[in-house]
Amino acid sequence: MTPTTARGPAAVVSAVGSALPPDVVSNNDLTARLDTTDEWIRSRTGITRRHIAGADQSTADLAVRAAAQALTNSEPEYVDALVVATTTPDRCCPATAPAVATRLRLTGIPAYDLAAGCTGFLYALATSAGLIAAGTARTVLVVGADRLASLPHPEDRTTVPLFGDGAGAVVLRQGCEGEPGALGPMVLGSDGTGADLIRAARPGALHMDGADVFRHAVDRMSAASRQAATAAGWDLADVDRLVPHQANSRITSFVARQLGVPEGRQLSNVAEVGNTGAASIPLLLARAFADGRLKPGHRTLLTAFGAGLTWGAVALTWPDLSRTRLPEGAGHDR
Ligand code: COA
Repeated sequence: MTPTTARGPAAVVSAVGSALPPDVVSNNDLTARLDTTDEWIRSRTGITRRHIAGADQSTADLAVRAAAQALTNSEPEYVDALVVATTTPDRCCPATAPAVATRLRLTGIPAYDLAAGCTGFLYALATSAGLIAAGTARTVLVVGADRLASLPHPEDRTTVPLFGDGAGAVVLRQGCEGEPGALGPMVLGSDGTGADLIRAARPGALHMDGADVFRHAVDRMSAASRQAATAAGWDLADVDRLVPHQANSRITSFVARQLGVPEGRQLSNVAEVGNTGAASIPLLLARAFADGRLKPGHRTLLTAFGAGLTWGAVALTWPDLSRTRLPEGAGHDR
């Protein structure tokens, strides 16, 4: 699609937060129950471990923890809307977001879920920026939360190693175009002809055509990133930090190479968390902010790809969040 810019006030990132379930499953743990090896998983995906939610931890639980951390970090005077991007809502009906809002003592504000696969967080940023541009909201809490590890069949060695659970959140506030943290032009897209490439009729029934997905992911994230950078007036050589959806490290390395972004400017945490779906980008932002890889003034390019097929990208200059307390535990509330 043609990159679009909201015409009213800009949406500005003013805080980040994150949450991971405490249980960690390493590749070696998986070899006890699947016909696989640590070497196979690491060389194909870059993943060494992932956090897995127990039966007593819902998507809403993870979303509440990440959102609460973002709110603590920015202490906004008001929150006018809440969006939860997720592919794994706790129930078909009702949506997850109203319960999350109520648990955050935000009962009464508009709260809704948004499903766009692993691109969900970027779609949620875009719709939230639209609420701010239209004057419908001044501050929006945007959460990406997923329990993607619940989707593969537990004995499917081709998909189980790829996924983990978690949540990330940002607070978006009304601000001015061009100020640090302001979301730049949005690139979003979808292609339903690829709907069968990643599909799950229910938890435990994920089907994925790995090789095709790999190819589409590289092509779509590269093209969207290029469009978003151009629309923001950036040369790709000017990008300080590429923040790609953490599907796997081979995919993200290909994207960086296609864009000509040096490997060292590409942020990654896939080794520790795997593919966490809509949580992937905000988890990585929170982590990189906490450990200093993401600094004020960095020209930052976010890009994602997921089931649908869906994809997107957005450029922003990373803001000074120094008022924000660093999340505990190397970047994640656990
Ligand atoms: N351990 C050991 N062997 C495995 C395995 C595992 N965990 N999973 C698959 N294999 C086997 C396959 O069965 C196949 O064996 P065969 O040749 O005897 O049939 C072999 O390894 C190669 O499989 P292949 O699918 O060609 O591997 P690949 O190099 O394409 O890597 C993926 C597989 C899934 C890692 C890769 O396709 C990929 O990353 N796809 C994108 C996935 C993704 O990120 N999806 C989410 C997007 S949001």
